[in-house]
Amino acid sequence: MLAGGRGTRLRPLTHTSAKQLVPVANRPVLFYGLDAICEAGITDVGIVIGDTGNEVRAAVGDGSRFGLDVTYIPQQAPLGLAHCVLIAKDFLGDDDFIVYLGDNFLIGGISNLLQEFRADGYTAQLLLSKVAEPQLYGVAELGRDGRIIRLQEKPALPRSDLAIVGVYAFSAAIHEAVRAIEPSARGELEITDAVQWLIDQGHRVHSHIVTGYWKDTGRLQDILECNRILLEKVEADLAGVVAGRSEIDGRVVVHPDAVIEDSVLRGPIVIGAGSKVVRSYVGPFTSIADDCVIEDAEIEYSIVLGGSTIQGVPRIEYSLIGRDVEVTRAVHAPNAHRLMVGDHSKVQLRI
Ligand code: G1P
Repeated sequence: MLAGGRGTRLRPLTHTSAKQLVPVANRPVLFYGLDAICEAGITDVGIVIGDTGNEVRAAVGDGSRFGLDVTYIPQQAPLGLAHCVLIAKDFLGDDDFIVYLGDNFLIGGISNLLQEFRADGYTAQLLLSKVAEPQLYGVAELGRDGRIIRLQEKPALPRSDLAIVGVYAFSAAIHEAVRAIEPSARGELEITDAVQWLIDQGHRVHSHIVTGYWKDTGRLQDILECNRILLEKVEADLAGVVAGRSEIDGRVVVHPDAVIEDSVLRGPIVIGAGSKVVRSYVGPFTSIADDCVIEDAEIEYSIVLGGSTIQGVPRIEYSLIGRDVEVTRAVHAPNAHRLMVGDHSKVQLRI
């Protein structure tokens, strides 16, 4: 499980936090991947960590909560996905294994992939998914019977619309491949190049097309979409306190320790422990984490991380708000916006 990397497309959140720990429906993306691994019957997991390693360790612990036995493998610098395989050699030995990118979100799990890989004895098997913008991903060209004949990493002119999903099944032959390749133009050892090396050496490299939903959660729009997809499946659970003249429609999950007062909530929504929603509107596809305050405000299609306050602000939408953030109304003249925004933040004011 790869949980390092820089996460440049999700700055400023990733200045301080791991991209794999951004929550969707109030749960880190990484956790859904760990669930999928456990469901597929795998128990030994090596998690490759980088600068944000301590946070990942704190979130996942020894893995027992997921039914897994976790070993952490520190990577000194984000030198590429194939580099992760290189440094994990001692952990992996000569076993077959899965590489799962911790920021990839997949509905439907990996059991089918694993079964096929085991039964057919391929050297490597890659999950692929049809996408609208293949140039943003690794791209595979297929031969007969689903054999992969060529791969390209983020090509300007993609040869197909089949993106490489961030889940790969490998046999031990991949270790020779990751040692044989050179760093790419972006200075990384690319797993795509390592798999191409296997193909060039005549190994059997096969595809497995994903039929369910898949997203690399690298960008804001992807995170918000995953949040929507997950919230579409939640069951209503109004465990918290609902007081005053509140109106609650649709599937709304309110943690037992959360309070809703004089507010309108239109699900699907999840609201975490210790959060308060007062005289506010919370609209569909919104996840509010723990210990937040939403007061005299309106918000929808958004994710708010723990400890944040939104007060006196109509209306926020399509937003990802980090931890311990304050978004409040400026009550004094001049009639102006006042911002203290971190590096690489994005603010869109509707004026
Ligand atoms: C990586 C791989 C790419 C793959 C993608 C899936 O890209 O290099 O081939 O399609 O993950 O998430 P990265 O996210 O490192 O840019």
